[in-house]
Amino acid sequence: MSNARGIPQVEKKVLVASLLFAGAMLALIAYAAIRLGISVPTCITNVKPFEEGQLIRVAPGRYEAHMVAKKWSFLPSSIKVERGSVVDFYVTSKDIVHGFMIDGTEVNLMALPGVVNYMQTRFDKPGKHQILCHEYCGTGHHDMVGFVEVTP
Ligand code: CUA
Repeated sequence: MSNARGIPQVEKKVLVASLLFAGAMLALIAYAAIRLGISVPTCITNVKPFEEGQLIRVAPGRYEAHMVAKKWSFLPSSIKVERGSVVDFYVTSKDIVHGFMIDGTEVNLMALPGVVNYMQTRFDKPGKHQILCHEYCGTGHHDMVGFVEVTP
């Protein structure tokens, strides 16, 4: 099915089909970005890195948590919010790269020195969530645990 010097017919068809497919995907991405206004979420903020960890109650059921990761703990090491609370997590590191993950939630950030990352979550069920460092950061890595306690 091939002539002497050209590309075989079937390969041409596959080539055309794959180019059309790639073109269609690009068109869909452009459509999503331009017409639907969908963009890849970013968690990086321009908040200035802070040194102090703290939980700020901004309104009933609304909190801002400024979390500092360091070798080998989180500051504050434990926070307490009431059930149904929405918490804005701002996360940074005092020294090296750490991870910041809250089990049972979608919060999963890197804790980076010099940068503040952000994610919001809502705690609907009472109980205790572990905050874990999921980036190997040295001999105390496995001890890097914090808690979010959700009161009824
Ligand atoms: Cu911090 Cu691993």
